Amino acid sequence: MTDQLQFPPSFTWGVATSAFQIEGGASADGKGPSIWDTFSHTPGKIIDGSNGDIACDHYHRFPEDVALMASLHVDAYRFSMAWSRVQPTGKGAWNEAGFGFYEKLLDELDSKNIAAHVTLYHWDLPQGLQDEGGWLNRDTAYRFAEYAAEVARRFGSRVKTISTHNEPWCTANLGYGNAQFAPGVADLQQSIQVSHHLLLSHGLAIKAMRAVGSAAQLGIVLNQWTSDPATDSQADRDLAAFEYSRSVEWFMDPIFKGHYPELALRAHGANAPAVQDGDFDIIRQPIDFLGVNYYFRHYASAETPPRQPEAKLGKTDMGWEIYPQGLTELLVKLHGQYQLPPIYITENGMANPDQVVAGQVMDTQRIDFVQRHLAALLEAMRQGVNVQGYFLWSLLDNFEWNSGYAKRFGIVHVDYATQQRTPKASALWYREFIDGQRRG
Ligand code: NOJ
Repeated sequence: MTDQLQFPPSFTWGVATSAFQIEGGASADGKGPSIWDTFSHTPGKIIDGSNGDIACDHYHRFPEDVALMASLHVDAYRFSMAWSRVQPTGKGAWNEAGFGFYEKLLDELDSKNIAAHVTLYHWDLPQGLQDEGGWLNRDTAYRFAEYAAEVARRFGSRVKTISTHNEPWCTANLGYGNAQFAPGVADLQQSIQVSHHLLLSHGLAIKAMRAVGSAAQLGIVLNQWTSDPATDSQADRDLAAFEYSRSVEWFMDPIFKGHYPELALRAHGANAPAVQDGDFDIIRQPIDFLGVNYYFRHYASAETPPRQPEAKLGKTDMGWEIYPQGLTELLVKLHGQYQLPPIYITENGMANPDQVVAGQVMDTQRIDFVQRHLAALLEAMRQGVNVQGYFLWSLLDNFEWNSGYAKRFGIVHVDYATQQRTPKASALWYREFIDGQRRG
């Protein structure tokens, strides 16, 4: 299968992680607490009772981890910066030691010729800002823009891309909608208002980074899916359309068209967000790329209990349907709907119950998963979608949010007791695949 997958020579092959999920060093060198420190230390919030205090100890082991990436022959590394590491309370003085960590990480990446793709916000808001209302407080958007400008000023010439947000849908819907994620609020109206402030902060940050003359490409990373009705019934079709509107279009329309989608806005009724004059002009900043994270499709069933998809290719350890063709369908659909900048697939991958047996991890399911998604991606490109790169989630097994360490997404296995890293079969396969792409 892989033999037939020939991507353009300039295509970027990468791996991705995020700060809270791998760094540890929770209070090292002046780092302030984030909402995920608070949340994960609150009993009952994380399924296995774990937290991010140590995680993969990447804060201390980054040279080893960068060497590992180099050994896998990747071109690029997508990671996030922990805002509270560089600005402990989210406003006021910068923490030079925190910036120092990212500087050393960038030096290490440079030395191995691996391009850096930075995300500014991967869910770990400084607790200090949460104490003042978090993303429900419009002011947080302005604080975010200051942080963005400072990162762009310091690192804008050293990194390939800067993404403002990672999956703001999750912050709004899981952080404020169903309380599964930090800060653990369940309030529909608040979650919709938060989504507006996240979008506003994105626009403000892009403007602020452009103002400092950042050379990096600037964009945002959105989690996206197609939404398929379970049956032909009107109820299922309506639900599918609503779901697509309230999730994908809810973030895409403001950014690319300067307004909220009609369908979801109407359905939200009194829960519609408070929008100030000029907000959409801010949100609708031109961006250099769009990051798309794809894991599964949405399956819309209005029945009780809802119908489940047949899942012909099975489900991952998260219980997510494996549905590669959804990636083709999604990208082609977006391409038809919007004037898109170049796309990076900033995340794709799967959780699998991997174990080390005689020094090896035979995660053949993951190899199959990635191959099928790459084939789907290539098909979208054949149909005219401009995709520049693919980042496998994730380099390492890591802290999978409210699932703790119980779910393993890495192509490298981490033994949390010893911090030993063991490249899985998928990592070795990925290296071979990348080498094959370079040979042409
Ligand atoms: C998307 C998120 O960005 C990442 O943090 C998470 O680990 C993966 N999905 C897998 O759930």
